[in-house]
Amino acid sequence: MLKEKVALITGGAQGIGQEIACKLAEEGVRIAIIDLKKSSRTEKQIEKTGGNVISFIADVSDENAVKGCVEEITRKWDKIDILVNNAGIYPLEYFTEISIDLVKRVFDVNVIGTFICSQLVAKLFISKAIEGTIINIASAAGVIPDKYHVHYSASKAAVISLTKGMAMELLGQKIRVNAIVPGAIMTKGVKNPGLFENSKDIPHDFLEFQRKKNSPLIPTAMGEPADIANMAIFLASEKARYITGSIMVVDGGRLLL
Ligand SMILES: NC(=O)c1ccc[n+]([C@@H]2O[C@H](COP(=O)([O-])OP(=O)(O)OC[C@H]3O[C@@H](n4cnc5c(N)ncnc54)[C@H](O)[C@@H]3O)[C@@H](O)[C@H]2O)c1
Repeated sequence: MLKEKVALITGGAQGIGQEIACKLAEEGVRIAIIDLKKSSRTEKQIEKTGGNVISFIADVSDENAVKGCVEEITRKWDKIDILVNNAGIYPLEYFTEISIDLVKRVFDVNVIGTFICSQLVAKLFISKAIEGTIINIASAAGVIPDKYHVHYSASKAAVISLTKGMAMELLGQKIRVNAIVPGAIMTKGVKNPGLFENSKDIPHDFLEFQRKKNSPLIPTAMGEPADIANMAIFLASEKARYITGSIMVVDGGRLLL
């Protein structure tokens, strides 16, 4: 069903984006990745299973750079069918210590980056009459804010709003737009999120707060990238043909606590 489709995944060099790229490739989807760094590990993993992959080093918040990537993908494969806006940053900081530069950077990557990629790809969908789909990786923090993540939580709330707004405007063109709201997922980024640059110690209440995110549903307590990738595959597929503007929570029950 997904075979022969083309997917653009941002932030696919590691973590959730890497898993989504590899799982889509297993379904026969051709994969293009945009990341700030080289996506060598993702490429190797996809090529090992006979998949097709190209990757670009670019910043999702740089409109010209993303435009260049989208043009190159369409030159190579003539189309894009699936966009996954996954690239995101989540540096921790006390609200009173967040610099304006930091809050701007978080919004640039998480919100403006999602906006830029979505707008460019939506234009392509419309010009080629592609009934494509956009999947935004939001966060449970965008529903109930996380401690020391005032800036990040607000940016992910904006991603949820963007999702619904785009879904509404693009409905007539049969372009589906949905968001996934992950809870705590064990990735490289979470192991080292850029902790409290202005303070040497991690506050004790932060560790307690983190533990509360652990889910009794699974032995690993925190979710794995595959939990999010499985939802992305479903949303990208024909099985989700009646779903748009939806916010799919995959959080092990965390938002219930
Ligand atoms: N891991 C979690 O617990 C969790 C929970 C909720 C939401 N999320 C969201 O899921 C997404 C992926 O998270 P992750 O834990 O896999 O992160 P990660 O840090 O492990 O990987 C993120 C990838 O995005 C890339 N990236 C960062 N800024 C970029 C930019 N400006 N342009 C292009 N690429 C860029 C990084 O280089 C990296 O490869 C993020 O949007 C994050 O906010 C994660």
